[in-house]
Amino acid sequence: MKFTAAAAVLASCVPSLASALVGNYWWFDESPSDGLNDITFPFNIANAPHKRGFYFAQQFDFDNVKNGSYTGLQPRPDSNGKSVIRAVFSSFEGGTTTAHPNCHYGADNGPGASCAVEINGDYSHTYNLVTENIGGTAWRGTLVDTVTGTSTVIGEWTLPQGSGKILVDAQSGFVEYFIWNGQPSHTCKSLPFTEATFYNPTSKTPGASGGEVAMVHEYGDCIGRAGYSLTEVPGGYDIKVGF
Ligand SMILES: *[C@@H]1O[C@H](CO)[C@@H](O)[C@H](O)[C@H]1NC(C)=O
Repeated sequence: MKFTAAAAVLASCVPSLASALVGNYWWFDESPSDGLNDITFPFNIANAPHKRGFYFAQQFDFDNVKNGSYTGLQPRPDSNGKSVIRAVFSSFEGGTTTAHPNCHYGADNGPGASCAVEINGDYSHTYNLVTENIGGTAWRGTLVDTVTGTSTVIGEWTLPQGSGKILVDAQSGFVEYFIWNGQPSHTCKSLPFTEATFYNPTSKTPGASGGEVAMVHEYGDCIGRAGYSLTEVPGGYDIKVGF
């Protein structure tokens, strides 16, 4: 695939070196030339501790849009004896508009819009993060529990006029420990343990097939010192980091 393009994407659109731990690429072997109307990223966080700090995310780009969009999962502490899973859906593009109650303007102190929802979810289930076009340049992010079938809207935003569909050439994803953002001095040994499986993306868009996650790799400033291990599993990769 287009490793050079992928490297450029990875360099420009992923978390700061301080909080970044693991990156991956994803692509589709076949896809319509104008892109996808929808994309689904499945994740499993069965063995992730129920603590705040990690973000498991995939990035995607739209045609004629400069900055990336992200969707993914963040573990949260249990509340009233129930497990809590937070799902995020953000656009980093200036001019993105939203009126959805789960969303606010701005993303990581930059332009865009960011949406999040928390559910009482079972960590052992695999969750689909679905992004789909809902008309014109408007997009909806939805969290789907693949065991119960329960669907929860994360949020909706509208990209600037003239923007296109979801591009599939050599995009990326990541594991970050966002507690380290703005904390330049941290010891790699202090990274708590976590684990997540990133599964191959799928799309219902006619002509799209062969979505895969690949080339999972460590990056950031704790390479070789973050307790990283990678296991290929059917349909994806299981990633462990921390201690
Ligand atoms: C892309 O993001 C950067 C960093 O937040 C921001 O400065 C820039 O204005 C954004 N570009 C567009 C086209 O939204």
